[in-house]
Amino acid sequence: MKEKVIRKHQQLFGEPAIVVKSPGRANIIGEHTDYNDGLVLPFAIDKCIYLAASKSSTGSSSVYAIDTDTFEENIQDRLDGFLQYFQSVLSYFKSIDLDVGHFNVTFGGDLPIGAGVSSSSAISCGFVRICQEFTQATFNKTDIVKAAFAAERGAGVDGGMMDQFSIVHGENDKVIYLDCQDRSWFDLAIDTGDYEFVLINTHVEHQLAQTAYNTRVAECKQGLAIIQQRDSEVSGFRDIRHHHLSYLQTPNQDRLKHVIEENDRVRKAVEAIRNKNTDHLGTLLTESHNSLRDLYDVSCDELDFIADKLNGHAQVAGARMMGGGFGGCIIALVEKDAISQIIQQWQEEYSETFGRRVSWFSVYPSAGLQVV
Ligand code: GLA
Repeated sequence: MKEKVIRKHQQLFGEPAIVVKSPGRANIIGEHTDYNDGLVLPFAIDKCIYLAASKSSTGSSSVYAIDTDTFEENIQDRLDGFLQYFQSVLSYFKSIDLDVGHFNVTFGGDLPIGAGVSSSSAISCGFVRICQEFTQATFNKTDIVKAAFAAERGAGVDGGMMDQFSIVHGENDKVIYLDCQDRSWFDLAIDTGDYEFVLINTHVEHQLAQTAYNTRVAECKQGLAIIQQRDSEVSGFRDIRHHHLSYLQTPNQDRLKHVIEENDRVRKAVEAIRNKNTDHLGTLLTESHNSLRDLYDVSCDELDFIADKLNGHAQVAGARMMGGGFGGCIIALVEKDAISQIIQQWQEEYSETFGRRVSWFSVYPSAGLQVV
């Protein structure tokens, strides 16, 4: 894939000055906690995009996306589709007084788009690394995360920084424990024994996902504000205890109950990984799904269908919806090489019920953003 991207860039624009590999991410547990100062346990996956870039001397910038065969010339001020991620990174560099100048980028890879594996953050992080090169900014990993995060915020999602953090800090065979309150983190070696992580794509891209996401962010903030009016000792989300929830009504009560309990599940998942207790890790995934469905209300029929089929299956330790919700992927801990046969058992029923098919792939914790 790398060679294909480089070749295409050479054909269109000449020799690339830099080629960057930017992976997607999966999240084991800790969903809808990152923007609530909570805990997450993601990893960079072995699927990625490559971005080849060179400076342009034509007085304008162009981007070519191999996967969709889209050639965008003179992208100045264009915000449609994937161009918004390029523009928001450019705006970030402008805001810190660095001029990226004109450029040409070619990108493509095997990272599915719209599947909830953060293809947009893979673009942002990759393009930040390119802009760093072109402006000769002395960025460390923290600066790259900060830049990509700020850029994506500029693109209209009130999200947390789990995606950018895991894409930049990914390591082979390690997952990342990140405390989004103070951004302290460590990496954790993982060995799932006879099991592997599998992502099952519902192929649902919900139109309302972004709106609903921003609503959840607001509901949690509102819940916190109500609790703080009653208890001045509560300085932020992490001070909220179960007894505080009685100050709230639904939906705020349910949302914050999920956040408190999901943080607990992340702590327990760390222990399970350290003890190589895959069964327990799987049980935590199942509990997380139930909470995201019932308390946080970010699941959908397709996700629930797949989670129901997998949770309780003899060859599955556990499964849950992953990412923002309303579509995208299920992450499941499944006995190695068993997933195809398991899905065959209900593939037809899924298609008949929802009028679409599922697809799936295994994922392994892999190296993060790098110049190749
Ligand atoms: C999306 C966001 C992440 C995170 C998840 C939910 O993937 O990009 O920052 O909030 O949703 O956990």
